[in-house]
Amino acid sequence: MRQLIRGRVLDFHADPAETEDNHRYLEDGAILVEDGLIRAVGDYASLREPGLAEIDHRPNLILPGFIDPHIHFPQVQVIASWGAQLLDWLNTYTFPEESRFADRAHATAMAGRFLDLLTAHGTTSAVAFCSVHPESAEALFAASEARNMAMIAGKVMMDRNALPAVQDTPQQGYDDSKRLLEKWHGRGRGRYAITPRFAITSSPEQMHAAGTLAAEHPDCHVQTHMSENLDEIALTKQLYPSARDYLDVYEKYGLLSENLLLGHCIHLEPREIARMAETGSRAVFCPTSNLFLGSGLFDEAGLRAAGVTSGIATDVGGGTSYSMLQTLNEGYKILQLRGQKLTPLAAFHWATRGNAIALGMEDEIGTLAKGSAADLVVLDSRATPAMALRMERAETLAQELFILQIMGDDRAVAQTYVAGQPMKR
Ligand code: GUN
Ligand code: ZN
Repeated sequence: MRQLIRGRVLDFHADPAETEDNHRYLEDGAILVEDGLIRAVGDYASLREPGLAEIDHRPNLILPGFIDPHIHFPQVQVIASWGAQLLDWLNTYTFPEESRFADRAHATAMAGRFLDLLTAHGTTSAVAFCSVHPESAEALFAASEARNMAMIAGKVMMDRNALPAVQDTPQQGYDDSKRLLEKWHGRGRGRYAITPRFAITSSPEQMHAAGTLAAEHPDCHVQTHMSENLDEIALTKQLYPSARDYLDVYEKYGLLSENLLLGHCIHLEPREIARMAETGSRAVFCPTSNLFLGSGLFDEAGLRAAGVTSGIATDVGGGTSYSMLQTLNEGYKILQLRGQKLTPLAAFHWATRGNAIALGMEDEIGTLAKGSAADLVVLDSRATPAMALRMERAETLAQELFILQIMGDDRAVAQTYVAGQPMKR
């Protein structure tokens, strides 16, 4: 099927924080989509053809779909749980809730709801933690495949310091992960992420198993958490007394690489930052979560100056919104408290191409390049009365983007396309 999707088209070819010539903006633009792939992008006048199906999204903006590089699928009913910091929050709310994902029917029901929420918020790809149960990853991969979504996910490996109902063992964690990886990695648009939850819930034996798996599958991402909370860091040092620092736990088991995604990275030591830069390991900033759990303020400029690549993500259910717009809003405010600036162009680059770069997938997602899947978000800058009123005084594209970034949420997502298919209504 061929279709022309018309609107105000915006995409990025460089990081606005680094390069002046960084985006393309077509006031009356269009995207030619055939069999779910982008065939051409250009001015509407140059792409129109007699008889070609058209959908007109003007005056809305069309961008590559948002990418959320850190989110917890089994926390859809944990989001907005009151009053705790990380370790209490995990023990009180999160682990009990994740235990329900042993039930395949529950996991399947939640997977559909989860993906519907992502696309309702304009997110077309995510890197997701599943529960410890292979059923949860099976459910998420199956639902993603049915929607043709580029989903990166893995079952968490965790064998200590948690309820028995959410623990595996080093061998079982290895075997289950391996089986899921062999089934789902590279199947359709799915990719498997090896997922030791974090140092506290994995024994040295399990970390070793995760390292073995990563060495056997160097093309897989590895996702975990690091240095989110001061009590977490202190407990990690107790549990791994010979580690030089938190990163050293992951380093000892051979997990550092350009495929490693380290959620949070707030309270880092200079050696950790230098090693992350040397190994290409990625930091993932989770602003709504870091504020909600009182974790701390991410140092974006410091990491950038050191040569560390960062993504930006929701971290639902520690995070409080599925919206990458709201994530950019809170990210802007955290960087304000740090004396740093997140410009609107840099923000929209980050949520699209920037996150794709953090995943090493910039040729596949976060792009409108010819031949890539037509994963698109259509944004309405006048979605609410307050936004429409503010927009009366917006004069530039950057001002409009900033209004979306600060005031926008799922109401501003007029449509989301996954591989050319509309996901809303
Ligand atoms: N660290 C280990 N597990 C988690 C989790 O589920 N959420 C957050 N925010 N941090 C974690
Ligand atoms: Zn997380």
